Amino acid sequence: MNPPRPLSATLDRLTGRSGRQEEAASETLRVEAGETLRVSFTVNGRPATVDVAPRVTLSDALRDHLGLTGTHIGCEHGVCGMCTVVVDGDAARACLLLACQLEGAEIMTVEGLGKPDDLHPLQESFGKHHALQCGFCTPGQLMSAYDLLDHEPGIDREELPEKMSGVLCRCTGYRNIMDAVAEVAEEHPDGVPAPRNCASAALLPRDNGGGRASAAAEHAEDEDTGPVEIRMPQTEPTVAIEVDEQVRATPDELWAVMADTDRLARCLPGAELVADLGDDRYKGRIRVALGPVKLAFVGDIHVAERDETDRRIVALAQAEDAGGGNVQAEVLLSVSPDGEGSAVHAEADLHMTGRIAQFGRSLAGDVSREMFGQFTRALDATARGEEPVTTAPPSAIAMVTQLTAARLRGVVNRITRRN
Ligand code: FES
Ligand code: FES
Repeated sequence: MNPPRPLSATLDRLTGRSGRQEEAASETLRVEAGETLRVSFTVNGRPATVDVAPRVTLSDALRDHLGLTGTHIGCEHGVCGMCTVVVDGDAARACLLLACQLEGAEIMTVEGLGKPDDLHPLQESFGKHHALQCGFCTPGQLMSAYDLLDHEPGIDREELPEKMSGVLCRCTGYRNIMDAVAEVAEEHPDGVPAPRNCASAALLPRDNGGGRASAAAEHAEDEDTGPVEIRMPQTEPTVAIEVDEQVRATPDELWAVMADTDRLARCLPGAELVADLGDDRYKGRIRVALGPVKLAFVGDIHVAERDETDRRIVALAQAEDAGGGNVQAEVLLSVSPDGEGSAVHAEADLHMTGRIAQFGRSLAGDVSREMFGQFTRALDATARGEEPVTTAPPSAIAMVTQLTAARLRGVVNRITRRN
C-alpha cells in the first residue's frame, strides 16, 4: 500500500497556502485507488491525525481510527441525526462529511462534552429527567442540544420540539428529552456552559510531508505551549515492566543516542517530539494501534535525570488522547558494558485511565514489553550507525499475534522435548 499523502501539503500545492479543501480552487485532487491521505484536525481540543482513504466518512474516522465510539451511526444518510457532532462551531452530520474535507477543522464529539466525574449540565439533566431509554440516540441528542443552546441561548420551551426534531429517537422518549433541554436553557439563559472535557489545542502537530503545518497547528501556536509539571500518581501503576536486553553497540555508542532526546525518541515506534521547550522538557506524541482502535497520545515529557557517569536517564511523561484517555509513565533507562556489547536495562511504571486501561493489565503489559523490545533494537541499530527507525505505530494485534505464536512455539517445543 502507498504511504499516506499529507493532505495539508497537497492543499498547499493546489492553493499556494494551507487551507481547507473547499479552498482548493477548481483543480481536481486525484487520489489513486489504495492511496490514503493524512488528515490533521482537532478533536475535543486535542490534535489528531488519521490516515484515511478519501471515501472514509468523519463518523468512521472518529469511531474506527480514533476510537471515539460515542458518535453513533444509524442511517448513514443524514436522516436520523445519531452521528451529530460539532464542526467548527456548528452541528454537523458526521456520516455526511468525508474526513479528508476536514483538514484543520475543530471537531467536538460527545466525549468532549463531559467526563464521568464531571458531567456537562446537559448530561446531568438528561439523567435527571430520564431522557434516555436505550441511549442509542443520546449522543446525537446531546450534541444537537448543545449546538442549539449555544446558538440560541434561553430558547423558549415551545420551540424545542421543532428545533430538536433533527435527531430521531426510536424509544419515543421525546417529552423527557425536551424537559431536559428546557431545564438547561432556563438555568443558563446567557449561554450553555462550556464543554467539560475539551483541552485547548496546545500542541503543534508535526507536518509529516514537508509542507506547511495545518490550520490546527497554526491555531496551536497561539495557545500556551509552555512546560507543565508532571506529577506521578502515588498509587500502584496499572502496569510495571522491567526489560533487559543484550545489544551489540558499546555503552559509549548507546549513550551518544541517549544524550540526544530527539534521536532517542525516534527509536520508539510511532513516537515523535513536536516541540523542545528547553530545560530537557518536550512536547511529544505517540500513536498506538490496538486492533481497530488507533490511539494518538500527545503530551509532555521531562527528562528528570541524565547521568553520563552511570549512563542512565529517568524520564517522566504524561499524555492524553482525543477521547480523554490518559497515560503517565516514569521510565528508567540504563546501559552497561556486557562483553563486546552492552546490556540495556529499562524499567517503567505506567498509569493508564480511559479506553487504553480497558485492555487489561496482561495485554497492556505484553504490548509495553514488546514496545521496549522494539525500542532497544532500534536504539542498538541507531547507535551502530544504521537507520532502522520506523515511525509506524506499533500494532497490538500484530504484537499479540507474535507473542501468542512465540508462546505456542514454546509449548510445542516443551512437548516435543518431553516425548
Ligand atoms: S447516521 Fe448520520 S444522520 Fe443517521
Ligand atoms: S433512547 Fe433509544 S433511541 Fe433514543
